[in-house]
Amino acid sequence: MDSIVLIHGFPLDSAMWSEQAACLRGRGFHVLTPNLPGFGDRPALPPERTTMEAFAADIRECIQREAGGRAIVGGFSMGGYVLLALLREAPECVAAALFVDTRADADSYDARKGRYQAIDQIRRDGPAGFFDASLTRMMRKRPDEKIRAAARAMMERQSVEGILAAQTAMTKRRDQTDLLAELTMPVMVLVGAEDAITPPSVALNMQSHMPHAMVVQVVSAGHLAPMEQPAAVSGHMETFLATAKRALEARP
Ligand code: MLT
Repeated sequence: MDSIVLIHGFPLDSAMWSEQAACLRGRGFHVLTPNLPGFGDRPALPPERTTMEAFAADIRECIQREAGGRAIVGGFSMGGYVLLALLREAPECVAAALFVDTRADADSYDARKGRYQAIDQIRRDGPAGFFDASLTRMMRKRPDEKIRAAARAMMERQSVEGILAAQTAMTKRRDQTDLLAELTMPVMVLVGAEDAITPPSVALNMQSHMPHAMVVQVVSAGHLAPMEQPAAVSGHMETFLATAKRALEARP
């Protein structure tokens, strides 16, 4: 059976993939949606050991333990940063790569400054204000209130310790753009057409380094496309998985 590992974003957990996981399981895929350390049911790593590379090592262990050492891997936003770190360290684990609402470059000066301000705000006032501001940026302009409430509840389940450690780790992540041109496996880049955090121009820029990649825009979705348009995202993923499978089977 083909295994697919889906890496969640920030400050979320594996439940963000529940619709896609159910759909792909129904199509016969072995779907793994691990929680990263510090999220969902996982204790946080010590802050000084929390890096995108440590998260990637955790995903690599999951692939070795539960998928026979190789899987199709998808990463949403921060999960995409983790996927890139995994591709740099252990590309042999990744049969095909799916980048969802993410980017390959490091934080800009302003993005880093914004994260430090958010860290100060969370330490001072707790995470509620950060969650509200994040949801406003993550969802399309007129969000579906039920989906917003579900995403808010997911954020509230996360530990402040895990949030602070991951937010700090993202400020330190390296620029992975140079890696894109080296990727030879099937790749899809999926982006919400109304994504204000990693907009379609970012997805197209990623594709400019890997012309074999499929790029798909999800209509009526912001950054949180897998939750905002779950059926459309599942459908695009199915198409990619079928194409990737054919391409991989045709290889000598
Ligand atoms: C995410 O959705 O995982 C975040 O937007 C990632 C980030 O803060 O860069």
